Amino acid sequence: MNRKKVLVTGGAGFIGGNFVKYLVNKYPEYDIYNMDLLTYAGDLTKHKDIESKDNYHFIKADITDRDTIIPLFEKEKFDYVVHFAAESHVDRSIIDPGIFIRTNVMGTQVLLDAAKLTSVYKFVHISTDEVYGELDFDPTTFFTEETPLQPNSPYSASKASSDLLVRAYHETYGLPINITRCSNNYGPYHFPEKLIPLTISRVLNDLKVPVYGDGRNIRDWLHVFDHCAAIDLVMHKGVIGEVYNVGGHNERTNLEVVKTIIKTLGKSENLIEFVQDRLGHDKRYAIDPTKLEKLGWKPKYAFETGIAQTVQWYLDNKEWWEQVISGEYKNYFENQYNI
Ligand code: NAD
Ligand code: TYD
Repeated sequence: MNRKKVLVTGGAGFIGGNFVKYLVNKYPEYDIYNMDLLTYAGDLTKHKDIESKDNYHFIKADITDRDTIIPLFEKEKFDYVVHFAAESHVDRSIIDPGIFIRTNVMGTQVLLDAAKLTSVYKFVHISTDEVYGELDFDPTTFFTEETPLQPNSPYSASKASSDLLVRAYHETYGLPINITRCSNNYGPYHFPEKLIPLTISRVLNDLKVPVYGDGRNIRDWLHVFDHCAAIDLVMHKGVIGEVYNVGGHNERTNLEVVKTIIKTLGKSENLIEFVQDRLGHDKRYAIDPTKLEKLGWKPKYAFETGIAQTVQWYLDNKEWWEQVISGEYKNYFENQYNI
């Protein structure tokens, strides 16, 4: 029997990296190809535990490089493509939107062309709830798959654009696709420019934690392991052409999140520093995951358990995050925050 070939783009990043590990360990009968450009957000040290396994392969490539991507697809004839590779940080998109359009929109189009040309069995596009825009603070309102796309940041606009291209390749050319739109992830190997790992790494070093505005903005936190299980399900059981929202009803204000981490680490709330608000800062995200639950998904992590385990992971893996924040990130942090 032919072994299935799965291409994971962005598998050296946070969620893609966790998903590559998940697939390599769960499906020894599949060949997993991690394709990544290794930007500031990608690193391969996280794959030390799987790099010698027979079913793990790494390819360094830029998804926008058509002259590399098309021949690669022609040679390997992938069965599945699970597409994570992206510029993913809202604050960076506010500073410099261009690279977000190039990677997230044009890169996705190159992959869609390659997938169409080589008749992949399924193309799973990993998107975000941020394409729906923002909700107000009414706790009974949620994003469903029918919520209109109203992205507010250059990042979310680039993701919404790529979603529409994926949809169009299905409608026009019959490309077999699924789109997943998840809420904010957290867990191991989260790059410390995002709220949760940034807070953990700064509190551990007794440094101030920047909280935007009044800290009342709400995010719906999803453990990355629950997300991996959701993508696995969609990859194998998702109805072709459908969109699935992923979220586990873990809404918290940013201030609650920061205070929980400070308390877990036994430090003082004096470390909180309220700083100037993010431009166009979305008030609230919250997912209605009913459609995915009907397909058979159920999250395992309550926020309190997940955050305690994540804090412990950062304590146990200081070497990893100290090494990733020592490079380009250092300059970014100094320019972004005046604290
Ligand atoms: P990340 O920034 O940690 O990782 C992105 C990866 O893509 C990195 O390894 C980077 O090197 C790679 N990459 C960037 N440009 C590339 C290019 N041109 N060619 C090849 N590889 C390239 O991102 P993440 O947080 O793991 O997010 C993964 C996906 O999930 C993204 O598409 C993002 O929009 C989506 N998403 C993330 C979250 C979240 O909370 N992190 C929430 C919703 C959706
Ligand atoms: P972030 O982790 O950047 O994810 P996203 O913008 O994709 O939701 O931010 C999560 C929330 O935390 C968001 O409301 C912005 C806020 N935030 C801060 O208050 N301070 C910070 O330093 C960062 C990075 C984010």
